[in-house]
Amino acid sequence: MFFRRSTRQPAPQQVQGEQAVSASTSMPALELESVSVFTELPEGGHRRILKDVSLQFTAKRTAVLGLNGSGKSTLLGLFNGLTHPDEGIVRVNGVDTLEAPSRDSKGASSRAGSQGAFEGVGMLFAQPEAQLIMPTVAEDIDLSLRRAAAVEGSALSGEQRRERIRELLRERGLEHLENQSVFTLSGGEKQLVALTSVLAARPQILLLDEPTTLLDLRNRARLLKHLESLDQMLVLSTHDLDLAASCDEAVIIHDGRLLAQGDAAQLVQQYRTWCAEGFPNEGADIEDAGDSTDTAGGVHGR
Ligand SMILES: Nc1ncnc2c1ncn2[C@@H]1O[C@H](COP(=O)(O)OP(=O)(O)OP(=O)(O)O)[C@@H](O)[C@H]1O
Ligand SMILES: [Mg+2]
Repeated sequence: MFFRRSTRQPAPQQVQGEQAVSASTSMPALELESVSVFTELPEGGHRRILKDVSLQFTAKRTAVLGLNGSGKSTLLGLFNGLTHPDEGIVRVNGVDTLEAPSRDSKGASSRAGSQGAFEGVGMLFAQPEAQLIMPTVAEDIDLSLRRAAAVEGSALSGEQRRERIRELLRERGLEHLENQSVFTLSGGEKQLVALTSVLAARPQILLLDEPTTLLDLRNRARLLKHLESLDQMLVLSTHDLDLAASCDEAVIIHDGRLLAQGDAAQLVQQYRTWCAEGFPNEGADIEDAGDSTDTAGGVHGR
């Protein structure tokens, strides 16, 4: 089960129920302008883990491809506030994220009720235990429901929330996990419960970091079917090349650089070739922070 490839979706979205509808403006929903991210090295100095990346995500579903350690999770985290740009500008729905409040691992704004740039962005982490913060499955989803209600200024009674939790779990075949401790879930169950919790907050944009890695074949198919049914804009990092090829667009990140952006099926082919034969400028890019010899490599699909 893969996505039906869809046309470009340039507009940010507003959410109705669990679904989202396009708004009238045509600004790119997610945008990086000359963004670099540095980390401190234990021995001193810096390493640049994202290097002067400029891109716009406008497609309904975009796959982020790249080798282990290439910078995919770092890139996704920029749109969720988990990673901060050391250079350049990150915009979500046109808003510079450095002007928005910071977020915790549950996606909660540090300023209650703030309409910061990240408010409409939900993220499924590659390690889902990092975002399951309540003792039981039901309590974790309940927290997301209450946070969404607080942001929207609406209120559900305890009974309404319990019913909603059961409905959300039922939709994913997870109803038997309702009262289970999040610590005792299997890896795949954690991933599915974390996704349920993220969607309970009704995000406008969904970032998914390797959403299928922990799942068996049947749950992978269920997850993809579920993602297919969502109206939200999706950006997913994945090593699952069949899933990537079924997206509308893809980007290839290599050693912190954007190598290519374009049609997903074509870029998956390109990625396979580079994996087999070597990436452009491979080995020519040993650099330190601010190294002016740091050359941009590769092919841009557009
Ligand atoms: N906080 C940090 N401190 C030091 N190095 C970091 C930090 N975060 C990321 N890195 C390094 O940055 C590089 C990119 O990491 P990132 O997690 O974005 O890679 P990735 O493309 O998601 O890889 P994978 O496919 O293995 O998940 C890696 O070499 C990683 O070791
Ligand atoms: Mg990663």
